[in-house]
Amino acid sequence: MTHDKHQEFFDLAAAEWDLMFTAEDLELLKHIVGKLGVEPGMHILDLGCGTGILFDILRRIVGPEGTVTGVDFSMQMALTAHRNFPFSNVSVVDADVSALPFAASAFDMGIAFSSFPHFSDKRRAVSEIHRVLRNGARFFIIHLSSSKELSDLHRRIGGVVKHDVIPDEAELREMFNGSRFTDVQIEDNAGLYRAVAVNTK
Ligand SMILES: C[S@@+](CC[C@H](N)C(=O)[O-])C[C@H]1O[C@@H](n2cnc3c(N)ncnc32)[C@H](O)[C@@H]1O
Repeated sequence: MTHDKHQEFFDLAAAEWDLMFTAEDLELLKHIVGKLGVEPGMHILDLGCGTGILFDILRRIVGPEGTVTGVDFSMQMALTAHRNFPFSNVSVVDADVSALPFAASAFDMGIAFSSFPHFSDKRRAVSEIHRVLRNGARFFIIHLSSSKELSDLHRRIGGVVKHDVIPDEAELREMFNGSRFTDVQIEDNAGLYRAVAVNTK
């Protein structure tokens, strides 16, 4: 794995990460995830999963026949996620989204919640995500803020995340289309950003 300063940043943040989420955030997330089309038996890939904030919501929907696989390159985040969710249908892999250790077409849906702006090589990440999703699977980028609100937040935090942004609409569409994702839809509103694209092989 090539060195990326985000790893240290998120390793340091892992211990207190879960304290950031309010009960309202969790309710809102449940509502948002509930509308993604996740179904029992599906295999879901959570990209940049952190401590696994989506795991409990997802694992209950996919049930015992489905799986939730989290990927994070911060070892501390991955370890915390693993400790938080010791369930047979949940697993966590410490890996970079730009080099996913999975077979082609292994997943039915990909979700990058609050993580995409931090991926240093977004084009490679999108291409890898395309490879590991099956034909017809959807890939979501979700944030509980608009792209502008998020950029402002990252600028205020500074350091390694200072310039982390969601690519603007034209660039994101071009990135998706370059990896043969189609039907790109982007909603960018106060309190919610949601981009979705469909994998075509
Ligand atoms: C802002 S946190 C969000 C974590 C989690 N999704 C949540 O909402 O609580 C972003 C996560 O993406 C991970 N990440 C950033 N770049 C990554 C990469 N190239 N490969 C894997 N994980 C990455 C970080 O380690 C961090 O845990």
